[in-house]
Amino acid sequence: MIARTSLVLFVATMTACSAAEDQPAPHMQQASPVNTEPSPTTQNTDTLTEDIRAGEKLYASRCGACHSVDANRIGPMHRGVYGRIAGSVAEYNYSDALAQSNIVWNEQTLDQWLTNPQDFIPGQKMGYRLTKETDRRAIIALLKTLTPTDATP
Ligand code: HEC
Repeated sequence: MIARTSLVLFVATMTACSAAEDQPAPHMQQASPVNTEPSPTTQNTDTLTEDIRAGEKLYASRCGACHSVDANRIGPMHRGVYGRIAGSVAEYNYSDALAQSNIVWNEQTLDQWLTNPQDFIPGQKMGYRLTKETDRRAIIALLKTLTPTDATP
């Protein structure tokens, strides 16, 4: 009787082990990436990553002739542009129109600006437009990642 119970337990244990061995992969796959965004966004993380990658390429080809991230060139430097007041980079000589516009760069204002700067802020001096909506979305996703560093107050 005792021997028989042990055998049953033994078999039961073996079965449980092999069953468990078959399972770990699906279990691990269930661990989903933690969403560190403070507020919910309409895009999922994969789309956002794709947008940022596309934005990097577009930035180099479309904006790089006049802008760079950390230096003023023909246009002002872009680090920290998202969330900052338009026309506020020190040492950059903005048009009066942009300097006095009092707008803050967010998704909506950047989209309007890139669509047609002259329509958005008449008298500004950026002679460039980004007509494709998907291009603007990608560039804006990239600009959002250019957060100010400690070295750039
Ligand atoms: C032909 C040169 C040129 C190109 C190309 C260009 N820009 Fe500009 N950009 C400027 C100039 C000049 C200004 C300053 C405008 C003013 O003072 O009225 C400016 C200003 C800006 C500003 C306002 C920044 C601030 O500090 O207020 C943003 C944002 C911007 N550009 C984004 C872009 C993006 C994104 C691209 C690429 C899609 C781009 N620009 C392409 C010349 C350019």
